[in-house]
Amino acid sequence: MNNELEKDIERIVYSQDDIASMVEKLGAELSRDYAGKNPLLIVVLKGSVVMAADLMRSLSINCEIDFMIVSSYAGAKSRGSIDIIQDLRTDIARRDVIIVEDIIDSGVTLFSLKNLLESRSPNSVKICTLLDKPSGRKAEITADYIGGVVGNGFIVGYGLDYNEKYRNLSYIGMLKQSVYSHK
Ligand code: IMP
Ligand code: MG
Repeated sequence: MNNELEKDIERIVYSQDDIASMVEKLGAELSRDYAGKNPLLIVVLKGSVVMAADLMRSLSINCEIDFMIVSSYAGAKSRGSIDIIQDLRTDIARRDVIIVEDIIDSGVTLFSLKNLLESRSPNSVKICTLLDKPSGRKAEITADYIGGVVGNGFIVGYGLDYNEKYRNLSYIGMLKQSVYSHK
């Protein structure tokens, strides 16, 4: 671990192989549950894009993909509200929708997003996340498909960032504390 990316990593949490097996398992579950349904994968940019690219290739059924950019209101009072920076191009009425996430922490953004999508008359809305961090949960939300469960530490790689960096690591690692206590 000595290039400019890897020098900031304390240890590997999920190797490339670990991630591949998690994604394959999720793909198999979705392929079984959505056979014949042509689900729409919704990817909330940016972190989930890496996971989504692998997940869709692990599906053995027809599916479509669309993207959104959202931002949650900072104020505590407006919990449950999000701003849509870029909306879907797809009409989701009567569609089976799967929100693809990299990691669920507080779940606040996802909670609002799920409510918003449900107001558009889809047939179903489910959540598929690579990782779940249940200790951080503030909103009442559970994923329907979960690759793995993680504890408190701040992890990066495979789409997950710290200040927009480290998304391009091919594994998921624990970021050294010195990186974030430093700046
Ligand atoms: P939340 O569930 O609304 O708190 O937000 C989840 C988002 O927070 C994820 O999509 C990530 O962008 C980010 N996030 C949460 N925990 C981590 C972490 O350990 N590393 C990197 N990003 C994280
Ligand atoms: Mg992020």
